[in-house]
Amino acid sequence: MIKPEVTSFFHEDSNTVGHLVHAPGDRRCAIIDAALDYDQAAGRTGTTFADSIVAEVEARGLAVDWILETHAHADHLSAAPYLKQRLGGQIGIGRHITDVQALFKDLFHVEKTFNTDGSQFDRLFEDGARFAIGNVEARVLHTPGHTPACVTYVIGDAAFVGDTLFMPDGGTARADFPGGDAATLYRSIEKILALPPETRLFICHDYGPGGRAIAWETTVAEQRARNIHVHEGVPEPEFVKMRTERDKTLSVPTLLLPSIQVNMRAGELPPPEDNGVSYIKIPLNRI
Ligand SMILES: [Fe+2]
Repeated sequence: MIKPEVTSFFHEDSNTVGHLVHAPGDRRCAIIDAALDYDQAAGRTGTTFADSIVAEVEARGLAVDWILETHAHADHLSAAPYLKQRLGGQIGIGRHITDVQALFKDLFHVEKTFNTDGSQFDRLFEDGARFAIGNVEARVLHTPGHTPACVTYVIGDAAFVGDTLFMPDGGTARADFPGGDAATLYRSIEKILALPPETRLFICHDYGPGGRAIAWETTVAEQRARNIHVHEGVPEPEFVKMRTERDKTLSVPTLLLPSIQVNMRAGELPPPEDNGVSYIKIPLNRI
């Protein structure tokens, strides 16, 4: 089993963790879930965080094959197009991003020419798809529930689970976004926890519950033993009840509206209007 080298980058503004992954001794790499900086008050994007990933790739002489998203994030804008422009590589996401595009096209009343066929991305992964990062094979598991398009990338002994699981003391992500579903999330988690127990799991968000230091790496065995929401022995109905009740208490993520508008376009900003400026829309009384 190949044990890829993983370097992780913590985006403090959104508590997101991006990952740079490559096989030992192999210069071909993938970047997973990289965030773009966004100052909502000013409506200004920034690349300070993405540039730290670019610097690492360049310093180590790596070549980017893939820029991957585990899902259309609702709490940060994707830096995928910026990274592609700087470093090359193809942007990939799960095939069901088309469902997310169909759900949000109407809400944002986007331009008539917006396609909901996922063509903004370079590659749409089916469940079970396989692709290469240099000499290591990656496998895609469709793991919906948090969103309909969530996928997990299994690369050697490492799995990048997006928001399907948090660290064991953080539990699981919400399942109340449009197209989300708690029972579906439970079944997706079962798929991940059926991987070999020593599988390293890299997660996409951490909030340091109880004041502990930020962390992003755990294992299947640790999750089965200690995940506060889905440790071994928690039946599906109990999880669904907990998740549904908890989701009712959560507020809308601060950057939900800008994030979805941009991320459903593979991270591109909405097309500029005839004055050359791109705008983010706020649908009133719809969320
Ligand atoms: Fe998410």
